Amino acid sequence: MSIEVLREGSLFHLRTLRTSYVFGLNPANRLQHFYYGKRIEDASMVCARAFNPSPASFNPRRPGEPGNGTPDQLPQEYSGVNSGDMRLPALEVQTADGALWADARYVSHEISSCKRPLNGLPQSFGGKAPEGMTQLALNLKDESTGVEVVLLYTVFEECDVIARSVVVTNCSDKAVRLGRVMSTQVDLIGKSDYDFVNTFGSWSRERHVEKTPLHFGLQMAGSVRGATGHVHTPAFLLSSPGATETAGEVFGFMLCYSGNHYESAEVEQFGGVRVQLGIHPELFSWHLEPGESFETPEAFMTVSADGFGQMSRNFHDFIRSHVIRSPWNGRQRPILVNNWEATYFDFDAQKIIDIATEASKLNIEMLVLDDGWFGHRNNDKSSLGDWYEFKSKVGDMADLAGAIHKLGMKFGLWYEPEMISEESDLYAAHPDWVLCVPGRPRCYGRTQLILDFSREEVVQHLYEVMSSMISKAKIDYIKWDMNRNMTDVFCSTLPPERQGEVAHRYIMGVYRLHDMLIETFPELLIEGCSGGGGRFDAGMMYYLPQIWCSDNTDAMDRLAIQAGTSMFYPVASMGAHINAQHQPWRFIPFETRGNVAMAGTFGYELDLTKLTDEEKETTVRLNASYHRYHDTISEGDYYRLTDAFKKNDVEAWCAVSKDRSQAVLTAVRRTKEGYISNQSQFKVPGLDASRSYRMTVNGKETELVYPGDVLMNYGIWTMELPWADCVSAVYLFEAID
Ligand code: DGJ
Repeated sequence: MSIEVLREGSLFHLRTLRTSYVFGLNPANRLQHFYYGKRIEDASMVCARAFNPSPASFNPRRPGEPGNGTPDQLPQEYSGVNSGDMRLPALEVQTADGALWADARYVSHEISSCKRPLNGLPQSFGGKAPEGMTQLALNLKDESTGVEVVLLYTVFEECDVIARSVVVTNCSDKAVRLGRVMSTQVDLIGKSDYDFVNTFGSWSRERHVEKTPLHFGLQMAGSVRGATGHVHTPAFLLSSPGATETAGEVFGFMLCYSGNHYESAEVEQFGGVRVQLGIHPELFSWHLEPGESFETPEAFMTVSADGFGQMSRNFHDFIRSHVIRSPWNGRQRPILVNNWEATYFDFDAQKIIDIATEASKLNIEMLVLDDGWFGHRNNDKSSLGDWYEFKSKVGDMADLAGAIHKLGMKFGLWYEPEMISEESDLYAAHPDWVLCVPGRPRCYGRTQLILDFSREEVVQHLYEVMSSMISKAKIDYIKWDMNRNMTDVFCSTLPPERQGEVAHRYIMGVYRLHDMLIETFPELLIEGCSGGGGRFDAGMMYYLPQIWCSDNTDAMDRLAIQAGTSMFYPVASMGAHINAQHQPWRFIPFETRGNVAMAGTFGYELDLTKLTDEEKETTVRLNASYHRYHDTISEGDYYRLTDAFKKNDVEAWCAVSKDRSQAVLTAVRRTKEGYISNQSQFKVPGLDASRSYRMTVNGKETELVYPGDVLMNYGIWTMELPWADCVSAVYLFEAID
């Protein structure tokens, strides 16, 4: 049973395949966290940590608190403001009299075999429930304010993931204002010596993993950019000292959300660590009239006793099985060529057809027409919002799409639906549709403004113009871009007390447009993008199965970006393309560019009409390999074989099919400078020790057959990796028995 209720309803044990999460009630009906870690079979003896024997006057409590404990000294499941818990609250409510107050206590609980849907939010779904029990709802009430809180826990046994979210309802007869409402809080006991792992970065340098020791006080990450942002991903890890890819305890926390996000670990006075994830409280407030509710985004958590690798695989499995709902999930995605880096804005219909014609000869399966096909756009100063074809440049879109389809290829189009240029027909018609604070100067990014997606008429308009083009030209794919951060957060149709809601309402509008498009065009393949990987998160993956990982397509730079991304997200979600050799500072062989791009959803970002004969041959070979390896790389188990926290002379990773019959190991030598050895040895993880595997290197079969246990424990030497900079080798192992 995945959810057990013990001790006459006062102890809750959520159990997955390898983990246990235990919390319970104290005599004051507060929910206290007891344990999160490796699975235990019987939780009935688990209890709160010992109370501090001598609470000082500095630990206030209301009458009725148990024994000698005070809220400030106890690990809490969901803390409130002004409640005696002096750490950061999960919930802050301002009542009509102006008081900041939240002190919700347990009233009842329910266990259900189906998961409550969250209205309009991305969310995990399904869940194998052998005994029909998946979701635990705890009903809490703040008697003095009438605010009710429901804490929801859904257990995904097979991936070791628990999803949490919170619903706050104003059951009083006066309006209240929520100032902070976290999706989850976990008060881990001890762990102050753990490391905090987050990704940091910038445009073109996304998701580099960084590990820093926790310290007393607050360690936090987040975004107030209106979107996920390039700087921090909405997720973080806590790892035990010295944890590696294969050993040590690693907790993973992730928010399923694409707007302003907040993640923190607060090391408190007694060495506990308070974890919180939710909508960023900056730029946020929510007004609740009597009877109204607010639902938070979901947060996911996992813990691995076997290092970073297992933690990542838990999230990968979970996202693939319970978050991505596109029918393209698990299917081979078409190998695409995108014209952006080939032409930028300088193209016409003939140039696009020429690229597509060449692509079809090379077994590339889709042409994506990027920025510049609409309005009168020949540079980035105009036309966003005018989503009809630039006739003198590309002709009728149905004709162009027809020509590409005739070549046996799919056809995709670039959109930036949330944006508007002042120089556009849309702006002339609806100048009031932009986010701006009346009477204040506007902020521009790439000369563009942001449409107010919190307004339903804006979302409806975008749906109409996009769906009519998708239907007319039979579009197979869209790339949904978003190229600036949000400022001037104000909605002209909302009253003053609701202005703190705009950023969240905006992203709900984005989700709504996705929902409408998916409902109308279920087979449409959508790739997310935000100036590369600025909106790469589990929330977007609910709507689309792949996201452009970075505008940085340099294969050497991509190694860190893709390794960092793989810490949280499955490789099947990472858009990765072969680019042209346009960086003058180093030469990267075409083959290496291909082998790096193959660790994602594969494609090309260059002018195919300019390839040499040798590059064409390599293209055909790489495309065949992509098909051959796809299921293992995209749907198998992913192992980082080198340390993701540093640059290694040789970087390596390995994908193993779920049935353990195939493994694809890729090794890339960054540089030959660090003269230690010209060969590296890698163990091939995750195989079946009792089977034998034939080795193929760089697409060429060898006579070599290795026993699984030799590959797993001794490994292979990368003899085929040349002694040069930026070279690579791919080893395929196929079971022969
Ligand atoms: C940013 C994207 O990341 C690029 O791939 C490209 O689509 C440009 N925008 C177009 O403006």
